Amino acid sequence: MLKNQKLLEQLTLKEKALLMAGQGEWQTRAIKGKLKSIFLSDGPFGLRKQSGAGDHLGLNGSEPATCFPSSATLANSWDPAVGRAVGRALGREARRLEVDQVLGPALNIKRNPRGGRSFEYFSEDPYLAGKMAAGMIQGLQENGTIATPKHLAVNSQETRRMASNSVVDQRALHEIYLTNFEIAVKEGKPKSIMSSYNEINGSYANESKWLLTDTLRKDWGFDGYVVTDWGGDNDHVSGIKAGSNLAMPGLGVNAAEEVVQAVEKGELSEEVLNQRVDELLTVILEAQAKPAAGNFSWEEQHAVARDAAKKSLVLLKNKDQILPLAKGTKVALVGDFAKNPRYQGAGSSLINSRDLESLLATAKDYPIDLVGYAQGCPRQGEAKPELLKEAMSLADKCDVYVVNVGLDESAESEGLDRPNLSIPPCQADLLEALAKTGKPIVLVLSGGAAIELPWEGKVNAIVHEYLGGEAGASAVWEVLTGKYNPSGRLAESYPLTETDIPFDNEFPAEKHNAYYKESIFVGYRYYETAGVKVKYPFGYGLSYTTFAYSNLEIDDQGASLDVTNTGQVAGKETVQLYIGKEDSPLLRPKRELKGWAQVDLEPGETKRIKIPFDEYSFRYFDQSLETWQEEKGHYQIMLGRNVADVVLTGEYDLKRGIVPKESSSSYGKYREGKLLLVTDQDFADLYGAKLPKNLPAGRRELEWNDPLREMANAKSWLGRAVAKWLANKIQQSLDESKPDLNFLFNYNMPFRAMTKMMGDMISRPMAEDILFIVNGHFWRGTGRLIRDYFQNNRKVKNDKDVQE
Ligand code: BGC
Repeated sequence: MLKNQKLLEQLTLKEKALLMAGQGEWQTRAIKGKLKSIFLSDGPFGLRKQSGAGDHLGLNGSEPATCFPSSATLANSWDPAVGRAVGRALGREARRLEVDQVLGPALNIKRNPRGGRSFEYFSEDPYLAGKMAAGMIQGLQENGTIATPKHLAVNSQETRRMASNSVVDQRALHEIYLTNFEIAVKEGKPKSIMSSYNEINGSYANESKWLLTDTLRKDWGFDGYVVTDWGGDNDHVSGIKAGSNLAMPGLGVNAAEEVVQAVEKGELSEEVLNQRVDELLTVILEAQAKPAAGNFSWEEQHAVARDAAKKSLVLLKNKDQILPLAKGTKVALVGDFAKNPRYQGAGSSLINSRDLESLLATAKDYPIDLVGYAQGCPRQGEAKPELLKEAMSLADKCDVYVVNVGLDESAESEGLDRPNLSIPPCQADLLEALAKTGKPIVLVLSGGAAIELPWEGKVNAIVHEYLGGEAGASAVWEVLTGKYNPSGRLAESYPLTETDIPFDNEFPAEKHNAYYKESIFVGYRYYETAGVKVKYPFGYGLSYTTFAYSNLEIDDQGASLDVTNTGQVAGKETVQLYIGKEDSPLLRPKRELKGWAQVDLEPGETKRIKIPFDEYSFRYFDQSLETWQEEKGHYQIMLGRNVADVVLTGEYDLKRGIVPKESSSSYGKYREGKLLLVTDQDFADLYGAKLPKNLPAGRRELEWNDPLREMANAKSWLGRAVAKWLANKIQQSLDESKPDLNFLFNYNMPFRAMTKMMGDMISRPMAEDILFIVNGHFWRGTGRLIRDYFQNNRKVKNDKDVQE
């Protein structure tokens, strides 16, 4: 018996089919007299409720909302309670604006920091990403809002975002790209989850029964409903069969007709359809029955944003303890960001921030003497001598420069991967110029992902605020003036140079198949195992005090140790637990994060802490047995300040588990850390099958799932001309440092998505006609297109009768 049997019996087959897709940009389907819709909104760190024209790229306006720090920022707190507080506050705003479901958090793994949405994702480490996401989900759902962790899974690049096949071996798939979601689902218990655009080893995530039913529902116990990413539905009926409940945005009557026909022809059993509708109804009805929302105060929301920003700030450098700034220090503030803050990313997460602070405007609230402000350089592009001069002239008046630079908004956006790891050249020139004045420089770094810092020697201190949200500025001043002792730790590695990132030269994949050749060696798992030096390791962050670790004890439950504050001020330490197994025949990273604990200590104080082992501590995914296993034997248990600074190491003997069959001589280059020498063939050996091949360049017949960018290879001059026009438009916008997300989205969108993004405006036959034209059949294609256009219009009119 299904949960909503009664209601299901009242619904016609067509109505059930209609429910499998949305209504317009942001709502589920309403059925006249039977069911009301619920409202969905982005996004992960602030509400983007669009009351007017809706879009999924952050192009049109939205209601004013609190902008919280982005996920990349929050992860630096290493504190799921911070995620929970932000989630709870986000939920309050959702209730206020009658939004039932929030599309977040986003928790994909940062495979390469150049991924355009790195600012929106938590970490390169699945354990940390999963725990932070779980906190946020719990907070969001506390008052009845539906959370939607996204994008399940292996979605690591923006180039060809809707037309890319992630080719990933089973170990990396499970250990790196699914463990984050597993933790988020098991601990956060989200009522919904969003499938990703991409294919995983040849199957669309949204059509993978293995992923959506066997793994998500059966293994992880998920009992909510699955929504597609916007336009991410490929074959609607296959999605439903696999376990997907709702295609967004609204697909219109054509898609419903496909479902009805599939049932009538026996290709989709009505039982499966009922099951999918039931899963969706359960969440919708529960959302509609939630009690009235409580009190709401913008001040409280802003305070949550500030607290989260403060706890997520990372102190990267503090030469000669220049920070915190002494009372009355004469400060010259420099940088465009200091006046017009860089505080959030672009795309579907873009927030119409209600109460934005700046370093310049908030300086007066802190015990420093602000002696002047200068822009110093433009936001991006080349340096301007007159601006440099103005900034340098402040040297006479100040004791210290506080300079705010980093990534500008054109560098970090959904839809666009970053071309390199640099900050704009004018900003690096500014640091060089100011260093020449001889005055110390305190750098406030903004930006949502790792960068290269070749100019690091020019500055005395670095505080990394990431993307701090609307209250980031006061959080920065609290740290600079010592009101708050910085406690953030990096949730990702900072390589010395971009070329140190495994397979950076192949990122992002420009063709259909993206080979995840580094396998499990993502981020620190590679740098540590291969002995590659980084600028700042994963887990790194300084404090205004120091901590000592002692008396390590390990038992079956976990590791216990004493932590002492050996400095002069109170502070918070994050003790990180890594596990390794040197004698393993398996391919293994040297160390992997398996737990951590945070402890607040007064000067001289010692506390004993315990970091427990859990179900993730010793497991690995056995490719041949296709299941999780634990390897019996001797482990190194390492407690450190960061992944490269292990303070105490103990031994632990795991009595349970198996002895793996893998030979210690296989996968030589991986094992020796020579990842950069790994060939496609080496990867194929690890992958355990032939790699799918990419098509050679050259003109060819284009297919339904080719992105529009492939029209560059189209047979017809028209297709090629359109591709060229699109590419030019994109280039123009990039040259002006204002990436045009609309063009970028269309460029990477497959033909099929035309039918998925515009409701009933373009039917499947119409999109096929367009493809026919592109493939060189202009006249016949145009004739068909006109015929199908009128046919579609007639059908759409008939649909109106069932809508609320
Ligand atoms: C993004 C999702 C977002 C959706 C709705 C898509 O382009 O990938 O993260 O939730 O749009 O705006």
